[in-house]
Amino acid sequence: MRSTCDPSGTRLHQLVYRSQARTNVSEPHLVALLEQARAHNQQHGLTGLLFYFEGQFVQFLEGCATELEPLYARIQQDARHGQVTTLYQGTSTQRVFTGWSMAFAEPGAEEFYWLLDYLETQQHRLLLPKIPIPEPDLRKALETLLRAA
Ligand SMILES: Cc1cc2nc3c(=O)[nH]c(=O)nc-3n(C[C@H](O)[C@H](O)[C@H](O)COP(=O)(O)O)c2cc1C
Repeated sequence: MRSTCDPSGTRLHQLVYRSQARTNVSEPHLVALLEQARAHNQQHGLTGLLFYFEGQFVQFLEGCATELEPLYARIQQDARHGQVTTLYQGTSTQRVFTGWSMAFAEPGAEEFYWLLDYLETQQHRLLLPKIPIPEPDLRKALETLLRAA
């Protein structure tokens, strides 16, 4: 069933969190997680980006509050990870990750820790080019979101 939530004209909710995987996350685990996430998100007007680096997640999520809030509550209870920490919560009139029911990227150590540092301190705006996103559209989307954060 398609979601009745239509975010056009209303403020979209956006959030970013980090978390720590509880179990060893193999590639099949990640694939299964992404398949589940994409199927749900597509149905419910949710979009975003998931980063994974050595047992750590950073996820950007956006959508209507009526969809985002219950999903985040489930994500916080998910036994596959713990130490779920919200890094950013805000609203926007514009969807950033249009077309990505859940994009995925595996950055290297330097980029991942730079991203975390950026999100936690917002001190390093000038280093934006280091963001580990190969696809130009996705990269533009992330830059837009980080500028707003
Ligand atoms: C790191 C991480 C990211 C996730 N991202 C999403 C997501 O974007 N969308 C989604 O529907 N489920 C996502 N999930 C799965 C949810 O936590 C949860 O398993 C799913 O909503 C089904 O919940 P239920 O078993 O209570 O029905 C994610 C799980 C983890 C561990």
